[in-house]
Formats: sequence, C-alpha cells, structure tokens
Amino acid sequence: MRDAAPSKIFLHDYQPFGYFVDSVHLTFDLSPNATRVTTRMAIRPNPAGDPAFFLHGENLNLISATIDGTPVTPVITAEGLSCHVPSHDFIWETVVEIDPANNTALEGLYMSNGMYCTQCEPEGFRKITFFPDRPDVMSIFTVRINGDLPVLLSNGNKVSTGPGHAEWHDPWRKPAYLFALVAGDLVNHPGRFTTKSGRDVELNVWVRQGDEDKCAFAMEALEKSMKWDEDVYGREYDLDIFNIVAVDDFNMGAMENKGLNVFNSSAVLASPETATDLNFERIEAIIAHEYFHNWTGNRITCRDWFQLCLKEGLTVFRDSQFTADMRSAPVKRIGDVIDLRARQFREDAGPLAHAVRPESYEEINNFYTATVYEKGAEVIGMLKRLVGDDAYAKAVDLYFERHDGQACTIEDWLKVFEDSTGRDLTQFKRWYSQAGTPHLTVDENWDGSTYTLTFGQTTRPTDASPDPQPQVIPIEVGLLGPNGSELQGSTLLEMTEATQSFTFEDIQSKPVASILRGFSAPVVLKRDVPREERVFLLTHDTDPFNRWESARSLARQILVEGALTGDPLDGDLAEGLRAVLRDDSLDPAYRAMMLALPSESEIASAIHDRGNVPDPTAIWTASEALKDQIARLAESELLSLHDQMQVTAPYRPDAEQSGRRALGNAALRLLNRRDGGMRARAQYASADNMTLQLSALSCMLALGNGVSELADFYDQWQGERLVLDKWFGIQVMEGDPWTAVPIAERLTHHPDFNWQNPNRFRAVMGALAANHAGFHAADGSGYKLLADWLIKLDAKNPQTAARMCAAFQSWRHYDDSRQAHARAELERIAATPDLSRDMREMVGRMLA
Ligand code: ARG
Ligand code: ZN
Repeated sequence: MRDAAPSKIFLHDYQPFGYFVDSVHLTFDLSPNATRVTTRMAIRPNPAGDPAFFLHGENLNLISATIDGTPVTPVITAEGLSCHVPSHDFIWETVVEIDPANNTALEGLYMSNGMYCTQCEPEGFRKITFFPDRPDVMSIFTVRINGDLPVLLSNGNKVSTGPGHAEWHDPWRKPAYLFALVAGDLVNHPGRFTTKSGRDVELNVWVRQGDEDKCAFAMEALEKSMKWDEDVYGREYDLDIFNIVAVDDFNMGAMENKGLNVFNSSAVLASPETATDLNFERIEAIIAHEYFHNWTGNRITCRDWFQLCLKEGLTVFRDSQFTADMRSAPVKRIGDVIDLRARQFREDAGPLAHAVRPESYEEINNFYTATVYEKGAEVIGMLKRLVGDDAYAKAVDLYFERHDGQACTIEDWLKVFEDSTGRDLTQFKRWYSQAGTPHLTVDENWDGSTYTLTFGQTTRPTDASPDPQPQVIPIEVGLLGPNGSELQGSTLLEMTEATQSFTFEDIQSKPVASILRGFSAPVVLKRDVPREERVFLLTHDTDPFNRWESARSLARQILVEGALTGDPLDGDLAEGLRAVLRDDSLDPAYRAMMLALPSESEIASAIHDRGNVPDPTAIWTASEALKDQIARLAESELLSLHDQMQVTAPYRPDAEQSGRRALGNAALRLLNRRDGGMRARAQYASADNMTLQLSALSCMLALGNGVSELADFYDQWQGERLVLDKWFGIQVMEGDPWTAVPIAERLTHHPDFNWQNPNRFRAVMGALAANHAGFHAADGSGYKLLADWLIKLDAKNPQTAARMCAAFQSWRHYDDSRQAHARAELERIAATPDLSRDMREMVGRMLA
C-alpha cells in the first residue's frame, strides 16, 4: 500500500511510546507464500507516553488478535493497527500471514535463492508483524522457527533445536530493527573466539553450498575485530554465539542484527582468484563495522531515527581506526578523504544537503547517506582531535557506562564529553545540526619575525540550513623552512569565529605553511597557492596526508584550468611525481595514491565551486591529456616500478602485498598509454589473481581493445556471480565516454542482467552513473537510460531505486541543455503512477 500524501516526520515531535514491551515471543511457521507469524508480547503501560495503542504493520494479513486470551477487533490501516487496551499490564497476541516469496523490496522477511532472510533496519519489522517498530521500544526476544530447512537462525543464544524447528533467546533488550531470522540450506565456516574474560564464543560464517572456499578471510577479519574492540575500546562480546550469513539479494552492505549479522555476499565472500585486494579490504572493514555495532548501536542504540549518526558516525569512525591499525594509517586517511569528497561534499553541494542529524524526513531509508555516515565519522574525529586521545577514551568509557542498555540521542553523546572534559560543546554541536560544507579561506603575512595566518569560513545556505553560523574548526598546521625542515611542530588551531587570525612568533624566514594536516576538518580549503609552493610541499611536507594533498591540489588546479581554457599543461606535477615514484622509502600503497588523479566529477565540483559551468567532455579531455603527459614524462620510473612491484610470494591480501599490486597497477594504467596495451595483455595472460587480472582487463578496455579478453573473462567466470558483476561494471566504466550509454543499454539485454538483484543492477547502472562524461552525455541519453531503469526498479525495490536516483543530485551544476534533459527525466520519474515514497521524496528534493 502506498500512502497518497507523504507526510514529514519531525525531530521536535518526538514522544515516547505509551507502553513498555517487557518481552516478546515470536513463532514463525515458514512457508514461501504464507508464513505465519505468531507474536505474543507482555505489555505494560508507560505513564510518560501517549496512551493510544498503535502498532506499526504493513502488508500483513491479520488472522487473529487477542488481549489476555480474549479476541479483539483492532482497526487496521495501511500503516498499522489501533486497539482499545486495558490500563494495566496485559498479554497481547496476534497471528498474521505474510508472503516472503513475493517480497521484492528486500525489506522485512524475504527470500533469496530459496533462503529466508530478513532486513529490518530501519522500519522493516512492521512488514513481519504488528509491533511498535521504533528504536526506543526495546524488548527481550524469544524466537521459535518451524520449517523444514536444515539451518534455522535468529538472534541471541540457541535454546533448542531439532528436526524442523529451532528456538533462540536473546538475553539483551533490543529494538525490533535488530531482529533477524535466517533459514536455508546453508553451510558454515566455523571459528572460535575466547573473550578477555574467558567467554568461549562459537563463530560461524554461513553461505550457500559452493561458497565454502570463500569464507576464511571474513572469519579472520571477525576474529581480528573482536580482539581489536577489546584492546582499543575495552568492549567484549556478550553472547555464546556470533553468526554471519551471506545473502545474494541485499539492498545495502550488511546489517548488525544482534548475534546474527546479515551481509550482502559481496561483503563476505572472497578468494584470491575471484576478489580484488580492494574487495578484501572492504570485507575486512565491513565485518569490523558490523561487529563494532554490537556496542555502538546495539547495547547503546538510538532513541529515534534522527539519531542515526549516533551509531553510524561512531561506528564508521571506529572501523576507520581499525583499518588504520591493521593497514597503513595515512593511506586509509587519504582513501577516506577521497571518498568523503566524492560522496559527502557532493551531497552537501546540492539539493540533497542535510545535517548529520537531520530534523525532518519523509522516508528514513533516504537518510542512510554519506553525510550521516562519513561526515558523522569526521565529526567524531574532530571531537577526538579537540579533546585529545586520553580525554576521548575517558569520555567514551563514560558513554558505555552511563548509557548501556539505553536508546540515546546526540545530546547524550555530547554530554559525556562535556562532563568528562569540562568543555562547552554548544558551538561544536552545529556540526550535527547544520548542513553544508564550510569553505575556508587563508591569508598569510610574515613581517620578518611574526607569521600570521588569517582564516575565514563561510557555508553555503541550504534549504536545510538557511542561515549557517560559524563552526568550530580544528585546523592542524605545520610551518616548513626553506630547506623543508619543520620550523614548528604541528599545532592545532581552534577556529570558532567567521574570521580569525593566529600568530606564530620568532619565525626567522618566510615559512611555507602546511594547512589542515591529516584533513583535520571536513572543509573545503580555498587557497591560491603558487604552483612552486605546491611542488615544494609535494616533495617536503612531513605530514603524509598533506604531502599527498599537495599533489592532489596541483593536479586539480591543472585539470580545472585545462578544462576551462584548454591551456597546455606544464610539467610540474609530472616532475614532482617522478621524485615520489623513485623514493623507495615511501610505502608503495602511498605512492599509488599519489599517482591517482582526481576524478572527473571532483573536477566538475571544483569548477562549479569557482562559479563556472563544468563541461564533462572538456574535463575528460583535460584528464586524458594529463595522464598522457605523466605517462610520457615519467615513463622510465613507471617501467621500473611495474617490474619492481611484482609479487613472487604466494598471494596474501595484506597491506604490504596489496600496496605493491596497487602501485604496479597504477603504473600499468599509465604505461598502457605508451605501449599500445602490450604490458596489460601480458599481465592479463599471466595473472593468477583477480587484482592483476581485472586491472589488466580494465586497462585494455580503456584503450578500446581487449575484445577477446572480455569474452574470455566471461567464459572463465560465468558461474561466479560476484565476478560477473565486475564484468558488467568495467565495460560501462572503462572506454571512451561516448561508448558508456550504448554499452550499458546493450548489457541490460544480456541474459545475465538480473535487474532485480541489487548487485547486478548497481554493476551496470552504478557504473553508468560513475562514468562522468558518459552519464552526462550531451544528448541526455545517459539520464534517460538511468531514469527508465529507476522507474522500472522502483515498482519492485524502492530502496535501491531511490538510493541510485541520487546520481542526478548535481544536475543543476551543468549547462542549460543538460539541465533541461535532466529535468525532463526527473519530472518523468515524478509523474510515474504509484511512485514509492522513497523515490517521491528524492525526486521532490532534487526538483525543489
Ligand atoms: N545499519 C547498517 C549498517 O550501517 C545499514 C542498514 C541500513 N539499511 C537500510 N535499509 N537502509 O551497517
Ligand atoms: Zn553501520
């Protein structure tokens, strides 16, 4: 059922529920088209809440309802059920019937390849049974599953199991969004972990038959995560068993259900032959993320969905710390910043801008965004930087101690920092309430001994925040002398005003400032730096992040100017990069990061930020020219690196080997422009792992060849669905921009294009949206193809459709003709009958 007029939900309307659910007992009688769910709840009035008894419920067929055993007749609407209930404690029981086999939205209880599974966050539980489906209603769950599948799983500890049934009990109070059930013909990869206080925990990764050989890495990652959370945050696991299940049809990456994490199979399954180094790294990070939610999300949850960043920002921050510890901290930081700029800054710069803690929404699923997650993590990073590591650790300990078992708010989170450090965080809180990315300007002055830095901050007004106020911006600064020595160790400046000066005394020669080291705040630093100074920092900065950043900003500057004026390039960047490439003291992974140029869409935003209109074709041309130039000028370094970086030891997806392959592959991508694809072809032929094979194939496609290898790749990997996703994706991603739309269109007719599988849909349509000049084809064909498919998908799976429709978010940055094409497509989507609430909100915001 779709509601006619979507209504906005507001943070300021929050009211507690009028009842406590002390315990809930669920019985599932599984059947693909008619699963029966019997729900028995012990209810107790909550005098602090609204006494109207309303339970959420959608698409449920109510069979019976009783109070203390007496049948009642509730009033049912599309959103749920209301009933007159006693003013004292009572037992509420309902039986409903649902149809998991026809649940294509992949929310609630659904089926994937004959397996039953659930996704309840944020509001999927209401598609399983009538329940107060809000995170502040926490209860003790007992679950009985009747069904003839061999593996029957739910949350908590196993109480009993036998042929055709299993019973699970979760001793920890939790909201319904953390409920999970899995039933299927699955096999497990087992593991064990003994917690620091001696609890012996059974671990399992459950997968489809045939995937057993792709679980070992996920299990290792889980064990490392459990250990890390004990060592670094003092957090121990709290059940006897921890299960992870891989599911092929899944809208997101993964879900932290208590004791039963459900994962998109792309975030679990990996073998050297079928997964790239980046896939391995992502799996390690997602396993950690979901595991860390056990404390930051499950033991302490959110009062309402406006507080989503309370668990997500913190958990992303924690998983970044974990990856930095397991791998290279500077490389992780650089990767995070690339991602933040590509996704979050972009969101902040357009009609979808919202605060880390938004104040209203129509469909909460539309707020699982880069702003809530990644900017939410940046805010925690800033807090930690401002108070210091020890104070951060103390405050977080207090958070766990004070709020364990509760459903909390951002106010609770900030209060533990205020109480434990004595700091007033009133102004800092704007990071949670204000949308938009602050832009920072810098003026410098040196009078022979005093050096002054004057910063100015401004934030673009948005619908979400029409009148932005100055933020607290931690700015880490270093000053370098003429020979590259540090005149002064890194200093943390704390900016709180709209403009503010900071002075450094006794500076005997004109310093070169290294500003915003470590990317100490999620802001755009607008600074006209002479190219020589960027080159100087690129060779001398002692802060690895800013050293990378100087190469990045130099490249950005060259590309912006190249795209706007068609100006010839100078060789500064290439010369600077040559020195970096030759420097064997630098981590290969780091050098690979230095070689990667800003994406075309990053250049488009930079051009927009300067008040110009980006031309996607001109950006592509400029970026090709720069790559050609670097390849030409650094050819000898690239040649020797591609050889030197070969790995002879058996494949391991660790930081060291992945770094070598990343640098070798980055070199290959450039060399490819010089040798007509010869080295790529050879690498493809000899590759014994997916990292080398896929990058070689991408290189060939980028040159417009590789036809026979592409066919060969398909034949080799036809049976591996996750590899086939890559095959679909690279064809659209690589190659000249004008081929992207026709290739994507052709692929939609391929027999393996199972568009209802989110991974496969994203492989093609996500790649199209990511091919900047291709998607923004001047004739509007990219917009049209994506819109056609979003409309089609929306009828089946609103969540994934709405998420991908954000590809249009920057449409107003382009020229009139492109805007007209994009507008026409957005309006066509908006006019589609029965459009989902998810899509309606997204398109509405983008057209507003
Ligand atoms: N809590 C999950 C995570 O970040 C994400 C689940 C979001 N699901 C959704 N349907 N929006 O790990
Ligand atoms: Zn999460």
